[in-house]
Amino acid sequence: MSRPRGIIIAIDGPAGVGKSTIGRLAASRLGYEFFSTGRMYRALALKALEAGLAVGDGPALAALAGRLRWEFRDSAGPEHDMYVDGALMGDRLSEEKVSRASSAVARLREVRDFMRDRQREAGRDGGVIMEGRDIGTNVFPDAELKIYLDASPEARAARRVGQLRELGQPADYGEILDFIKKRDAQDSGREHSPLKKADDGHYLDSTTLTRDQVVEEIVRLHAAAAGGGR
Ligand code: DC
Repeated sequence: MSRPRGIIIAIDGPAGVGKSTIGRLAASRLGYEFFSTGRMYRALALKALEAGLAVGDGPALAALAGRLRWEFRDSAGPEHDMYVDGALMGDRLSEEKVSRASSAVARLREVRDFMRDRQREAGRDGGVIMEGRDIGTNVFPDAELKIYLDASPEARAARRVGQLRELGQPADYGEILDFIKKRDAQDSGREHSPLKKADDGHYLDSTTLTRDQVVEEIVRLHAAAAGGGR
């Protein structure tokens, strides 16, 4: 299939594996757009909290998602700024309570159907790295390049500890490791669109690789997948 702007690169994988950082860097290298789908789940969770809706109510949350105005505006970087009902979705999306609520919201089939359709619209012209949990399996099963980015829970916990310490925040390795293992089990064990590698995806284990090595590998895989198509 040929798309006007290039191929679609799907990057899926567990939380804390660096999909956003790596995806953004690779997108800049390739002149591609970067699209983090987790942001949409987080924004819907934030709006649901603000509206006082139960985060387990699929029909109500899908109705809310449908009423909201989702806009993606150009920004200086490879990722568009996301506006919901005219408001820029920024730092609040990273709050702990929003993270927790987004995980509940992401379990709902009605919500996932909505997100899948919007994400397909956003990415179908190609020239995009789309990152999430179900991009290669559900959103774009026909993506030209699918990568499952992984790293051991221990490596992800150690990286997280390093990030928190750099920010001057307290960090307990054991607690973080437990949390990561629980999130993995939740993401992989849910009924609708669980996290898993697409059968035709590339498995990329970054446990012992540097960030730059992972980006290089993605650029190499892109060249092979885009082939003579571009
Ligand atoms: O990647 P993230 O932490 O920003 O994702 C927020 C939540 O949304 C997380 O619980 C996983 C979920 N998610 C999902 O189920 N499917 C996606 N494509 C992206 C995120």
